[in-house]
Formats: sequence, C-alpha cells, structure tokens
Amino acid sequence: MSDFVNQFWNWYVILLTAISIIACSVVLWSQNITPVSDQAHTTGHVWDETLEEYNNPLPKWWMWLFHITVVFSLVYCVLYPTLGSFQGVLGWSSSGQYEKEVAKADAETKPLYDKYLAMDLPALAADKEGVETGKRLYLTYCMQCHGADARGGKGFPNLADNDWQWGSDPAQIVETISAGRMGVMPAHAQVGADTIKDLANYVRSLSGLPADSLRAAKGQEAFNSVGCSGCHGADAKGMAALGAPNLTDKVWLYGGSEATIIETIAKGRTNQMPAWQAFLGDAKVHVLAAYVMSLGKGGESK
Ligand code: HEC
Ligand code: HEC
Repeated sequence: MSDFVNQFWNWYVILLTAISIIACSVVLWSQNITPVSDQAHTTGHVWDETLEEYNNPLPKWWMWLFHITVVFSLVYCVLYPTLGSFQGVLGWSSSGQYEKEVAKADAETKPLYDKYLAMDLPALAADKEGVETGKRLYLTYCMQCHGADARGGKGFPNLADNDWQWGSDPAQIVETISAGRMGVMPAHAQVGADTIKDLANYVRSLSGLPADSLRAAKGQEAFNSVGCSGCHGADAKGMAALGAPNLTDKVWLYGGSEATIIETIAKGRTNQMPAWQAFLGDAKVHVLAAYVMSLGKGGESK
C-alpha cells in the first residue's frame, strides 16, 4: 500500500475508512437509544384495520454482533495495512506472504531439482519422470508462444521438429532458454523490388518449391553480392550463432510463399525469445531444455 503516487490517495483511503467506521458506530448507537414508543411500541401505521407496524428495538444479542464487527474493524486497522500507507503493526503484506509460500514450495521441490541438475541433458531427456516435470513447466511458461503441442506458429519456432534456428547442442538449447535470443533479419528494401523478387525465387528454389528459374539464377548472384550469405551462409544453410535460419529446408518461421518471402526480405524481421534464467533459475531451465530435446528427438527431420 506504500506506492501511492501522492499523499492525496493516502488520505483519501484513511478518511474513507475512518468515516465508514464512525458512520456505522453512529447508526448503531442511534438504534440503541431509539426511545421505546409509549404508544404500545407501534409506529402508528395501521393496515387492514388491525394490522399494526411495531417499532421494537433490535434484540440485544443482534446489536452485539454489530458492535463486535466495529471492534473487529478497529483491531484489523491496527494490525494490517488498511489505512493508506500505514503498514500495520504485524508488518504483513500480500507480496510478503507470496514470497514465503514460493520459498516453501521451492524448498520442497529442491531435492528433486537438484537430482535433475546433476543428470546430463541427454540422460534427463530420456528420463520419463524428468520429461513429465519438464512438460508441466513447459505448459506453464512456454505454451503461450510455442503452443501446447510445441509446434509453434508464424514467428514462433516449432520446437517439436529437428530444425534448430539457434543450434541443437544441449549447451546451445540451454543458452537459448537461459539468456533468450534476439533474431534480427535486416530490411533490404534498398536493393530494389526487382532484385528482391529474384532473391525470393532463389530462396524458394532452395527448398524445392516452384520458382522462376531465370529469376532464381539472378537471385543466387544477388544472394552473395548484397550480403545475404554473410548471415545465412554461402550454402544458405543458416548460421546458428546469429539465429539465421537454414533456407534450404522446408521449415518456415514466417512462411514460404513468394509474397511472404518478399515481405521478409524487404521489411526485415525482428523476433525475440525471452530470457528465463533470472526468473526460473538454472535447475528449471535445465529440465525445460531436456523436455525440448525430448520433443526434437524422432521428430520429422527436415
Ligand atoms: C513471448 C513468447 C515466448 C515465450 C513465452 C517463450 N518463447 Fe521460446 N521463442 C520465442 C520466439 C519468438 C523464438 C524465436 C526467436 C528468434 O526468431 O530469434 C523462440 C525460440 C525458442 C527456441 C529456439 C528454437 C530453435 O529452433 O533454435 C527454444 C528452444 C525456445 N524458444 C524454448 C522456449 C522455452 C523452453 C520456453 C519456456 C520457458 C519458451 N521458449 C518461451 C518466443 C517465446
Ligand atoms: C544480419 C544477418 C542477416 C542478413 C544480412 C540476412 N538475413 Fe535473413 N535472416 C536473418 C535472421 C537472424 C533471420 C531470422 C529472423 C527471426 O528470428 O525472426 C532471418 C530470416 C530470413 C528469412 C525467413 C525464413 C523463414 O523461415 O521464414 C528469409 C527468407 C531470409 N532471412 C532471407 C534473407 C535474404 C534473401 C537475405 C539477403 C537479402 C537475408 N536474409 C539477409 C539474418 C540475416
């Protein structure tokens, strides 16, 4: 409660709370001293000739319940953070409670994760229980982007195949998940629409897709002269260190239609895989890497 942008809200909360409690007390007090009407406790309202409305005070025990709620609220205001930025004498906070619970859960699972961390990745990727744990972590942290089946989508790589943009070595996969990755394909609009079309046809021909052979031949030349090969390699098989994808396979991050490839080349693409080490810690990253490896294994090799 201490992060109000200015004192106004601090006092707003304090006054609102205080006024509510005082108002409740006043109402209770006024009810307690309601004079017992001497006209046989009626309000004087009569219906159907004999039906009279009585005006008796509430039963004592009932009133006491209300008094107790007022006392309870006062005690609560002193103990817990209720009044503006006042922290309460117990020093309780919801984030503090959350951290305590997380620390407790971490302490409970630590022996298990320590065991996993001691196993090398290929062994863990073959361990049924380890993979199950990895899958649960995956479904919590990774599914939003890579999909429940890990097959990805446009701009989000398929993790269940054997094609790796950033490398398939256990160390590379751990690095990808720990530190994140940022793929930058620069825009090449400056080379001109015609050359971009040639390049797109060349890229399609590399994957065995229908392409204009004349344009593809010109595109092959341009591929080296405008510097595509600097990142994707002279053989266009990609470069894991830069995250430059292999262009000779049929796996597409953005799509293999001529129009999509032209868009990729002309406008460029920037794509980011978030870093997880700081949030999840080494052991969970290790287990996730094993899970990802277990998916790639036996997937359709392309
Ligand atoms: C916010 C979306 C997002 C989340 C969440 C996310 N990723 Fe990614 N991930 C990406 C993107 C985007 C890329 C591709 C980066 C690029 O193109 O350079 C990627 C790439 C990867 C790669 C590299 C694939 C390759 O072919 O080299 C791996 C492995 C991976 N993610 C695993 C994970 C794991 C494990 C998690 C859960 C801890 C996760 N990702 C969570 C967006 C996400
Ligand atoms: C500075 C390095 C760099 C250069 C130069 C470069 N690329 Fe890329 N390219 C990348 C990276 C990195 C990606 C992946 C982007 C991502 O992760 O989103 C990419 C992605 C692509 C894709 C998308 C592939 C898919 O699966 O959808 C195509 C097509 C492509 N590049 C073609 C080219 C062509 C043609 C050229 C030359 C005009 C070129 N690139 C120049 C780094 C580069």
